[in-house]
Amino acid sequence: MHRAGPYPVRRVRVGACGPHTDGTTPSARYHATALAPTHSAQGATPDATPKTRVPPTPPLVSAPCETIRSPRPPQRDRAGENGKNRRMVTAVTLNTGYSIPQLGLGTYKMSPEEARRSVAYALSLGYRHIDTAQMYHNEEGVGAGIKDSGVPRKDIFLTTKLDNPNHAPERVRETFAESLEKLGTDYVDLFLIHWPLLTGDFVDSWKVMEELVARGQIRSIGVSNFEPHHLAELAAASSTVPAVNQIEIHPYFHNSAAVEATEAAGAVVEAWSPLARGLVLDDAVLTPLAAAHGVTVSQLVLAWHMAKGYVVFPKSTHEERIKENFAAANVTLNAEEITAIDALDKGEAGRTGMHPDTMQRRH
Ligand SMILES: NC(=O)c1ccc[n+]([C@@H]2O[C@H](COP(=O)([O-])OP(=O)(O)OC[C@H]3O[C@@H](n4cnc5c(N)ncnc54)[C@H](OP(=O)(O)O)[C@@H]3O)[C@@H](O)[C@H]2O)c1
Repeated sequence: MHRAGPYPVRRVRVGACGPHTDGTTPSARYHATALAPTHSAQGATPDATPKTRVPPTPPLVSAPCETIRSPRPPQRDRAGENGKNRRMVTAVTLNTGYSIPQLGLGTYKMSPEEARRSVAYALSLGYRHIDTAQMYHNEEGVGAGIKDSGVPRKDIFLTTKLDNPNHAPERVRETFAESLEKLGTDYVDLFLIHWPLLTGDFVDSWKVMEELVARGQIRSIGVSNFEPHHLAELAAASSTVPAVNQIEIHPYFHNSAAVEATEAAGAVVEAWSPLARGLVLDDAVLTPLAAAHGVTVSQLVLAWHMAKGYVVFPKSTHEERIKENFAAANVTLNAEEITAIDALDKGEAGRTGMHPDTMQRRH
């Protein structure tokens, strides 16, 4: 993707997995409306004028939810039971022309076995976006969970990230190949530089990532934890605009300078630790606000992120929470609610993770 100034974030409401009154099969409908990229799945030249909605036309090629080989009975967890609680996940169009579901599942701190179960369960509910990383040491579990789910690979948006010790061109190639092997796939939808390092060698890694895109093994490349000056350094060295910048954001830490620089560059903002790792869930302002809206605090906060256009992937290994978080896709906040949540920003004091300017090669 060549630099051509700021890109608008295009969003469209799409249907997720779940029974539908029009007789279409749930996951097939999702595929038809949400995850088909706006250009060829084989990595062909992107459509110069990407469309934001793929018409829901047959033939439908995905397996219906009812046939998903899940460790859990899928009937228990069908989204949209009786057409009442239909889950709607917005798709955001990246600057590469591909669509990313705005709500997914994070996997940080999951063991491989937890990742396997959680990913399979989330996919059985209708999640179609999974975020992992080499650093999490659970890519095998994520791959196994995808396989267990029976959801076709092409219907899932899968992200992994380059670990800090792997910033050398040959290491990027070797470890990326290992990631594919562990994930049980021949491509990833998104590959990110996990952290910019003090040594500043992310530019060399980026060039290898561009090669991997050209080889069809990665659909979109992006960055994570990039401050405005890292984005500027990358822009000076490459014409490829990152598809996303994945940064810490939650009600206590808005990370405003990084958000502004990311959006100005034409990249989509992904918010990591959207629940501040659970810290916001007992907040004295959020608790009554959520109750008044008739949702949980987690749903309120996730809806706040999505209202701002951010992509989120809350992590949980608990089925009821995975389900609860997914239902946030149905929550729409009004301007007063958004303003009340905005007021909770503590600036730098709200940051829970490391400052990107302090990250060493080893972690
Ligand atoms: N790029 C980066 O540097 C970076 C850094 C951090 C995270 N990430 C990505 O972002 C994802 C999300 O961030 P995160 O995992 O740090 O934090 P998070 O999603 O903000 O919070 C996860 C924590 O909240 C709990 N939780 C989740 N949903 C809940 C609910 N509905 N009710 C009560 N508790 C709930 C989880 O507990 P249980 O699991 O016990 O339910 C877990 O302890 C990660 O998993 C990872 O994929 C990226």
